[in-house]
Amino acid sequence: MSHTCRIELDGTSYDFPVVEGTENELAIDISKLRDTTGYITLDDGYGNTGSCKSAITYIDGDAGILRYRGIPIETLAEHSSFIEAAWLVIFGKLQTPADRDRFSDLLTENSAMPLSMRKHFDAFPPNAHPMAILSAMINTLSVHEPQADTHNEAAMEVVAARLLSKVRTIAAASYKSSIDQAIMHPRYDLKYVDNFLHMMFSQPYHEYHPTPEVSRALNLFLLLHADHEQNCSTSTVRMVASSQANMYASCAAGVCALWGPLHGGANVAVIEMLEEIKRRDIPVKEYVRKVKDKEDGVKLMGFGHRVYKNFDPRSKILREAAEKVLAQTGGDPLLDIAYELADAALNDDYFIERKLYPNVDFYSGMILRAIGIPTNMFTVMFAIGRMPGWIANWKEIHDDPKSRIYRPRQIYIGDTDGQWVPRDQRG
Ligand code: SDX
Repeated sequence: MSHTCRIELDGTSYDFPVVEGTENELAIDISKLRDTTGYITLDDGYGNTGSCKSAITYIDGDAGILRYRGIPIETLAEHSSFIEAAWLVIFGKLQTPADRDRFSDLLTENSAMPLSMRKHFDAFPPNAHPMAILSAMINTLSVHEPQADTHNEAAMEVVAARLLSKVRTIAAASYKSSIDQAIMHPRYDLKYVDNFLHMMFSQPYHEYHPTPEVSRALNLFLLLHADHEQNCSTSTVRMVASSQANMYASCAAGVCALWGPLHGGANVAVIEMLEEIKRRDIPVKEYVRKVKDKEDGVKLMGFGHRVYKNFDPRSKILREAAEKVLAQTGGDPLLDIAYELADAALNDDYFIERKLYPNVDFYSGMILRAIGIPTNMFTVMFAIGRMPGWIANWKEIHDDPKSRIYRPRQIYIGDTDGQWVPRDQRG
């Protein structure tokens, strides 16, 4: 493979280096393009632009491959846990027993919120969106618990454990506040997922005990969301991290980017779509027609992906997990509508030609509904799952002594000769 790429511009040839990744992905390194040619590139939505080199996650969108640190998602889904996968994503290797015990203790010790932090919840109105609370409270962590320096792995592990542990405490507290129930303290005898479910559903006078199926399903949900290359929210975390902002500020920005319905907010939009179809008894074929005709801009939420053009490996695993947990919790009529929609779309040229398949959000909400998590918390659950990926990407920038601030260019299309008009002479 040639290691340079020749570009002809205005009669002059320029050679640019070609970068090859460990999975044989190729990129033209254009870091000297503007200096040598005066040109920049323009790539709406960054669909053809690599923003960085990363060793965390690999996706092959055509082959439906997703690997965390080289390990296939199917292997991790079968054998690992969310916290073990989180540690792998952040530190790049599988935990030894000593790593596991030390990190587990760190998560437990850092699970409670400072009492001063809890006072913020008194000020949020009951209908405050939990994603707004989550982003605000993650940023607030830097006020109540200034981020220790992450100058070495041990220090980094403490800060990572603090954020991973508290994000679930904050999420559960936002839910409890919204239903006017007491915010539950974490328990030191429970592991990550069961402790979260305890803080969500226990009350001072009534302990909640999840079934093994529910614990497993939520563990799997979080593991499957742990990282996903340079998606919108992770790129946002890297953008903020590139200015050397602290980890909390960078991840709080990630929460904001994830909120949008085209990204992490899609898991809420899928359920709202299915509920509307059910409530208004819309025939599935009629709904699919509206999507194809782009009527009112309606989309088949939970379908399509910028990278996966064949199938999203996470969607297959989530569909099976949803069926398992629903078999135990009594089923969900929305799942039948989801199957009908998927079947109609997967056999329709409109979707086939545009390579639109179910993505991670199409079935994930079914699991959360089966567990009893309210719909407006679904994207919060996505954020808890994605936290290891955001931390890992923040760390990858932080550990790189050559890291530069992200500062894209633009093509200006505005006025070229703006005139000042005194205020008393304006129409
Ligand atoms: C996530 O990047 C990641 O990795 C994200 C994520 C992660 O783990 O971080 O995987 C999580 O965000 C998954 C995606 C969740 N979003 C949704 O389910 C929302 C519905 N999907 C779409 O809005 C869309 O598919 C995107 C946003 C996911 C991808 O958008 P693209 O790549 O910009 O594609 P596009 O909008 O240019 O669409 C190309 C064509 C268009 O039709 P034409 O103009 O060619 O006629 O496909 C159509 C689009 O109208 N299309 C859809 C569609 N998605 C694309 N038509 C109907 N329903 C859809 N869902």
